[in-house]
Formats: sequence, C-alpha cells, structure tokens
Amino acid sequence: MEKRTNYCGNITADYLGQEVNLYGWVQRVRNLGNLIFIDLRDREGIVQVVINHDSGKELMATAEALGNEYVIQVKGQVVKRSSVNPDMKTGEVEVEASEVVVLNKAQVPPFEIKDNVEVGEQTRLKYRYLDLRRPSLQNAIILRAKILQATHEYFDQNGFINIETPVLGKSSPEGARDYLVPSRIYPGSFYALPQSPQLFKQLLMGAGFDKYYQLARCFRDEDLRGDRQPEFTQIDLETSFTDEQQVQDYTEGLLKKIMKDVMGIDLKTPIDRITWQEAMDNYGTDKPDIRFGMLIHDLSPIFKKSDFKVFASAIENGGFVKGIAVKNGAKTYSRKQIEKKQEYIERFHAKGLAWVKFEDGEFTGPVSRFLTAENQSALIEEFALTGGELLLFVADKWKVCCDSLDHLRRECAKETGIIPKHQFDFVWVVDWPLFEYDEGLGRWIAAHHPFTMPDDEGIKLLETDPHKAHARSYDIVMNGDELGGGSIRIHKRSIQEKMLKALGFSKKRAYEQFGYLLEALDMGFPPHAGLAIGLDRFAMLLAEKDNIRDVLAFPKNANASEPMMHAPAPVAEQQLTDLGIEVEEQYQEDVAKIDQSLQEQAMKDYAVHSTWEE
Ligand code: AMO
Ligand code: AMP
Repeated sequence: MEKRTNYCGNITADYLGQEVNLYGWVQRVRNLGNLIFIDLRDREGIVQVVINHDSGKELMATAEALGNEYVIQVKGQVVKRSSVNPDMKTGEVEVEASEVVVLNKAQVPPFEIKDNVEVGEQTRLKYRYLDLRRPSLQNAIILRAKILQATHEYFDQNGFINIETPVLGKSSPEGARDYLVPSRIYPGSFYALPQSPQLFKQLLMGAGFDKYYQLARCFRDEDLRGDRQPEFTQIDLETSFTDEQQVQDYTEGLLKKIMKDVMGIDLKTPIDRITWQEAMDNYGTDKPDIRFGMLIHDLSPIFKKSDFKVFASAIENGGFVKGIAVKNGAKTYSRKQIEKKQEYIERFHAKGLAWVKFEDGEFTGPVSRFLTAENQSALIEEFALTGGELLLFVADKWKVCCDSLDHLRRECAKETGIIPKHQFDFVWVVDWPLFEYDEGLGRWIAAHHPFTMPDDEGIKLLETDPHKAHARSYDIVMNGDELGGGSIRIHKRSIQEKMLKALGFSKKRAYEQFGYLLEALDMGFPPHAGLAIGLDRFAMLLAEKDNIRDVLAFPKNANASEPMMHAPAPVAEQQLTDLGIEVEEQYQEDVAKIDQSLQEQAMKDYAVHSTWEE
C-alpha cells in the first residue's frame, strides 16, 4: 500500500499546501449537493475532507456512495477551512480530495462510533473492536501503553532485571480462589494460574538476582467490582538487602516518572505516610481518599454521659460515637435523603444514623433535643462549625463506625461536590496489623500475605499473642483506591514456620504447601522486600474512568464472561475425555443448552450478512 503521509488527527495549519495520503474510517458524510464533506477518523483524531463537484463526476459518485465506518484512502491537499472549528485540533484546515479509494465497506454499526453515546455494556463488549474505535477508549488504551513504557524505562534505568515467572503454577489455598487448568498428562491434577508471582519473586531473591521486576499477569477468581477483573496486570518488583524506605523510594521514583511521562504532572515526593491506625481513625478505611477533609471524629468523650440512650449505651458497651460534619449539608440533604443513607449503612450492621443540622447558631433535627449546652459547644469546637453543616453520628462497635462513616464521608463528598477534579493524591499507609479476622471464613488470616515480616515486637508476639502483632507492610493509596501493596518478607525459616503455625497450619500441611520455601530460606536467603502495583487500577484512575474495563482492550463483564468470543464456553467431549474430566450430571443439561444456543446465537448475531452459500 502507498505509504501514509500523516495521521488524520495531526493535520494542523503547519501542513497547509502539502499533498497528503491518508487512511481512515468514515465518521460521517455530509452531502450539500455540489460539495461533499467527509469526516475521516484514525487513531489520532478526525480531519475534514472536502470533495468539490469540480473534481469530477467519478470522485463525487464515490463520495456519495460512502457509508459510516467505510475504510478509505484519501489523497489531496491541505487547505484553509472557510469556517474554523475551534473545538478540533484540525479545525483550521481541511483536505481537498483529489482521489478517494474505498478499501472496504462496512455494515451499519450497532452504535455510533463516538464518545458519550449511551450503549449497553453487553453490546459494547460484544462489538469491542467498534467500542475501541471510540476516542475516549483509544486514549485510555494508549495511556495504559505509556504507563508500560515508562515502567520498563524506569526499571531498566535503575538496574532491575525483567524476569518472567510461570503462568502454570500450583494452587495455594491462601487468598482468593484460584483459576485451575486441568492436566492431560496427570488426569485429576491441576495447575493453578498465579494470583501473583509472590513466591517466585522471593525465590529469585534467593537466587541472587537482587532486583527483579515484571509486568505480571495475575488471575483471581473473586467477586468482581468496578476496580477488579479476574485477570489483571501487576507492576511487580522485589529487591534484596533493602528496607521499607528503599522500596518506597523506588516506588516513588516509578510513580514520579509515570506521572511526568504520561500525565505531564510533577509528583511531589516523598509521599506522605500515615499509619493504618490513623487511616482507620480519621477516614474509617485503610485506603483513605485524602483529596478532601471531612475527617471522622471520635465523639465518645463528648457523649459519655449523654441522655441519648443510643449514645451512652454504645460507649458503655465498649463502643464509640463517631461522626462527620458535612459542609453545606444542612441545605443539601432532606430528612428523606438522610433516612436513605441510614438504610444503606445497615449493610455494615449499623443500627441507625443520628443526625443534626447546625444553622444560624442552632442545632435542629431529631437528636438535637438530647444535646446539652455543653455538648453543643463541644461539637462547635470539635468540628470548627461555622453554620450550614449536617452532622452525622454513628454509635456502635469500632468496625461498624469505621465502615459506615467511611461510606458516608465519601458519598457526601461526592454529593456536595467537594472532591477536586483532575487531582491525583497519593499516600502511604504503613504499620499494618499482621493478621485480620475474616468474618466469612471465621478465622484469622494474614492481612497482607503469609510471607510478610512482623516487626520486632511482632516476632515475639507470634507465639503468644499473634493477633496483636504489627506487620512491616505498606500500601500505596491513590484517590481512595488501593493502588499497590508490599512488605518486608520473612527471610528466616524459624519465623516463617511460626507465622504459618499462627495461621493455623499443621507442620505437615505447611511443609506440603510451602516446604520448598521453608527449605530455601535455610540455604542462604538474603533479607528482601518488594511491592506490586495494580497497573489496570492505576490506568483507570489516571484515565479518570469509573471502571477498570475501560483500560483493558478485551475485558470480562461483571459476570466474569466475555460476550464476544463467549468465554467461558463448553468444550468438545473429547477434550474432557482426554483430561479425565466429567461434567456433573446436574450441569449437563445446561452445558448442552449453552452449546446449542451458542451456535444459534452466532448465526443470528454474526451471520446475517454472510456471503457463504451452503
Ligand atoms: P495484592 O494482593 O495487594 O499484593 O495486589 C497488589 C495490587 O494488585 C491490584 N489488584 C487487582 N487489580 C485488578 N483486579 C483485581 N482482581 C486485583 N487484585 C489486586 C491492586 C493491588 O493493590 N504479591 C503481593 C504484592 C507484594 O507483596 O509484593 C500482592 O499480590 O491494585
Ligand atoms: P431511636 O431512639 O431508636 O428511635 O433512634 C433515634 C435516632 O437515633 C434515629 O435517627 C436512629 O436512626 C438513631 N440511631 C439509632 N441507633 C443508632 C446508633 N447506633 N448510632 C447512631 N444513631 C442511631
């Protein structure tokens, strides 16, 4: 093919008078009779092409027959536009076509290829290649590529070695559910896809590579949310002979480079650090959004002797009264809206939501009659009230207060419009507990993972009071989302053994699962530490998208399936026989139905315009 001279989206007044050869998609055609305008689009943007009836009948006829999304070649000259479009990068010019060649026709697409058109999720994913033609998705995918580029450059400049670890690994019952891959050679045995390369990268430190990084594909079979996919990428690093400070320095260096290269933003370092306890106390969460204030206050001292039974008894029973003050909340929220919020926080087991408004020096609302003069002045001082605030109180166990007020704080910030736009605020959360109680499992689990080093005091506590131990771990948080996390690792067999014991492992099970690691730690293993950043989440936040799907070329939907190719899908009987696998009877009917309907569906969805004569 004749070489392209320019991308459509880059043709500015700098190119005036030049002859160009362009390729692209027809965004739209406007036929004014003696003039035809074509908006021609490629990955860089749109340029206006104009065809004049003076250019001949043949050219006019070709242009008239064009449809949206036709793929064409345009040759012509860059000329000044009579009416400038200031909203377009190419708005000062147009291309006067001397030749238009149709390279391929297009059926009418199921949705218009432009931003801000309402299209259902299923349709978007089914026609992902069309969805991806839209500028905002193209930009998000390109932004992601820039992050990858900056990451490779940074690690290369800093002496890290890029090492790939296996995707076919072994299942480990810690953490999320594994994706399993059946083995044909050993029927009944399974590989597991990695949830992260954690143990491989630690072993690479044992092997002496000293500084490792990888853009690692990870797989977790967990409930999906807006910021989670079953398959995602980590920017994964591990270093030997380092401590918290050095890993954090490397991470900050990387973030600084990415922010500069990708966003043109100078990130101020060092990034602030807050302890896990401070994060929970002030924000009610371990991933605080620090772009705005509205901190959570412990009001228990104020309400210790309150006449309001709800408050007094919560405190008496070892709980807390905590609250936030929402600026301008008095006017923003009606009683009904506040009651809705109360309903919502019941899912965190909150028993209620008490509230007062503070306007013109007076407290109003259902709970105000319980506020003594002393309470009132204490609240005014505590929250530095100036008027117009809505105060929300939760009286409950510590965890319920945290969860409820974290939610209320973030929601109210959104609703009162106090979250600054286009701002990216990072914070380190440090000094974590080593264990956390998992309500679902009904037992203690590692807060980060079982290979995280306790602090000095924590090592002593492992055998006596492990759940009080603190971990040498750290999370990097951005705009209220967990961007990444890491830790100093255990590099001594005796400590790792104690850790596994504290997690409830028997010696046999520990050695069956992690024997190779425990042995390796006794073969001259260096102290080491690392961290992993969720690349997709980072890209999502930088692209200011609400869903991680928008920064992945081919994501799964909220039900972990992919509606274009239809994954997952039934496989041929023979494949299952080879693997020694049988589908349980209760599912057989469904599988047969899906198999049948996939064929019918494919014919209906994709074969309508087929030219195949059977
Ligand atoms: P962790 O489990 O905290 O740590 O994961 C690190 C980061 O990976 C991202 N992430 C995800 N992104 C998209 N979809 C998911 N389902 C998903 N799950 C996690 C998050 C998270 O912060 N091996 C350790 C790291 C270490 O200690 O070095 C680990 O995997 O952004
Ligand atoms: P009651 O005395 O149960 O009618 O509650 C009076 C107000 O206190 C209502 O607005 C309740 O939502 C609120 N309330 C009840 N329990 C709590 C609690 N644990 N924390 C905060 N507010 C509560």
